[in-house]
Amino acid sequence: GAGGESEAPILTSLEDGVGLIRLNRPKALNALNQETMHAVVDTAEAWDADPEVRAIVLTGSAKAFAAGADIKEMAAKSYPEVYAADWFARWERLAEVRIPVIAAVSGYALGGGCELAMLCDILVAGEGARFGQPEINLGVIPGMGGSQRLTRAVGKAKAMDMVLTGRMMDAQEAERAGLVSRLVPDDAVLDTALEVARSIAAKSRPATMIAKEAVGAAFETTLGQGVRFERRVFHSLFATEDQKEGMAAFAEKREPRFRGR
Ligand code: CAA
Repeated sequence: GAGGESEAPILTSLEDGVGLIRLNRPKALNALNQETMHAVVDTAEAWDADPEVRAIVLTGSAKAFAAGADIKEMAAKSYPEVYAADWFARWERLAEVRIPVIAAVSGYALGGGCELAMLCDILVAGEGARFGQPEINLGVIPGMGGSQRLTRAVGKAKAMDMVLTGRMMDAQEAERAGLVSRLVPDDAVLDTALEVARSIAAKSRPATMIAKEAVGAAFETTLGQGVRFERRVFHSLFATEDQKEGMAAFAEKREPRFRGR
């Protein structure tokens, strides 16, 4: 791939319970090679296991969140090679991270870049962001979950249009279609995502994890099963000190101090 090989594929920092992952292959528009996949997923898994970390923000550069999987790395691969490696499978572990993950998207989010943003829980986008699944132009199809998650996010009409023609959506269309959680000026993307993450980090860690799991269940189960699951995990939160603290703070008209247990 172009550029960045001598540098770390990602940059990370951790502050006030919020972990920040910045994709760091700007010359290749953050094309997602295998090294980047392992770095992102390893970091997210380590933070997920650390009780001090309560939310993760994932971002790219001003020009590109990520312009897709690394085409140059894949181009010569054979079917037995991609099959044996279960190419892209490790990305799916990001969806299994239990603390909330927020995508801060500026510029291109194409192919695997769009799919990576959709693996996150909340998507903050800049007004100049562009989303697409252009794999069809390469003679392939999305391979990191795009045919499934884009369809669930925006419905069949737009998903078919995007996946079959490879056209890009601008940020306004993506927000109207339900792909984007918050649309903000380009220069406010990272600050807004960090603000969202910090607001989540101030809440009860078990409650935010269970909230994420409950919303996620809506994509995996029937309505009846999902509602029953929600009620059971709602009940389970009454076993936490944070529930007692949150409700006591409301009655006492003060801010709650959640301790994550
Ligand atoms: N893989 C590897 N390299 C990439 C890349 C990618 N996905 N996207 C961009 N690059 C590289 C370019 O090759 C170029 O490298 P060189 O400087 O060495 O030539 C550098 O990044 C800058 O890119 P451009 O010169 O093309 O920049 P541009 O501003 O003219 O165009 C763009 C920007 C429209 C995003 C264009 O780069 C582009 O179309 N990229 C590919 C988009 C794409 O097809 N993504 C899907 C990939 S397949 C996939 O993701 C499979 C999956 O489902 C997981």
